[in-house]
Amino acid sequence: MEKYHIEKNSVQETLIIPLFARKICSERFPALFRDSEAERICGMLDYDFASREKIMNSPAGLFGAMEVAQRQYDLQCEVESYLADHPAASVVNMGCGLDDTFRRVDNGQCRGYNIDFPDVIRVRDKLLPAVEKERNIACDLNDPSWMDEIPTDHGAVFYAAGVFYYFETDGLKNLFNRMAERFPHCVLVFDACNRRGASMMRKTWLKEAGITDVKAYFSLEEESELEKFGPSIRVVSSRSYMRGYRDILPSVGLFHKLLILFCDSIVRMRIVRICFDQRSLSE
Ligand SMILES: C[S@@+](CC[C@H](N)C(=O)[O-])C[C@H]1O[C@@H](n2cnc3c(N)ncnc32)[C@H](O)[C@@H]1O
Repeated sequence: MEKYHIEKNSVQETLIIPLFARKICSERFPALFRDSEAERICGMLDYDFASREKIMNSPAGLFGAMEVAQRQYDLQCEVESYLADHPAASVVNMGCGLDDTFRRVDNGQCRGYNIDFPDVIRVRDKLLPAVEKERNIACDLNDPSWMDEIPTDHGAVFYAAGVFYYFETDGLKNLFNRMAERFPHCVLVFDACNRRGASMMRKTWLKEAGITDVKAYFSLEEESELEKFGPSIRVVSSRSYMRGYRDILPSVGLFHKLLILFCDSIVRMRIVRICFDQRSLSE
């Protein structure tokens, strides 16, 4: 069987972490998470998963895996909620890696766009080839040409899972302002944590995965920082990763309960929803 390669020690390699985490969570917590695609895809990658497996199956590793699986669940809820009002909208996965959320939310009317670097899209085209009304777009998100590919006549919801940490704040500010200009009234949802959380991510996830050349830069202390990015950026909501969309606290053991409370209060891991609208001057 042909195996597909992901560039080592690059931001692209970070896609392995959530993919493998979803596989592990499906095995360990099947009542909470189910992702048969992640299992299939891991088996088709030329990657040393054995060394990751031991770390991810430790109590702390399992918590990290739960976080990324829960993040996908949360973002899926956000996309479904947007589609309830805009069923034929564009559903745009920014920094898609090998995540298949579009297929989970596909209502037969919406269209899906998955954007990532060309080498990731080459692998994605083999492992998750686009289905009807879906397109995989090879483009750096900092290159605005991808924006020409996204129709907004029926609305658009953009989401990014585990992606913006790798952007410098000024780069993200430019991206958001360009999107606000190009996609007025559309919605963007993404995950964020505070500075302490980003530093922990560097020291644990990235280091343990041997991804040493990649930095996690972007962090958010307060949601109001985003509104300072530009006048057309309005924060609509900010909800806890682990309790904001479904409360998994009662379903996990004591150690994981404590970590959930730590993540909510100390590193402020959350899902932020912004809308590209002019804010009124009185705000
Ligand atoms: C941690 S992975 C998350 C992948 C996917 N969202 C998921 O949850 O499985 C980060 C992804 O963002 C992509 N990425 C980061 N910066 C990017 C950029 N400037 N342009 C396009 N893709 C980018 C990486 O290549 C990688 O696939």
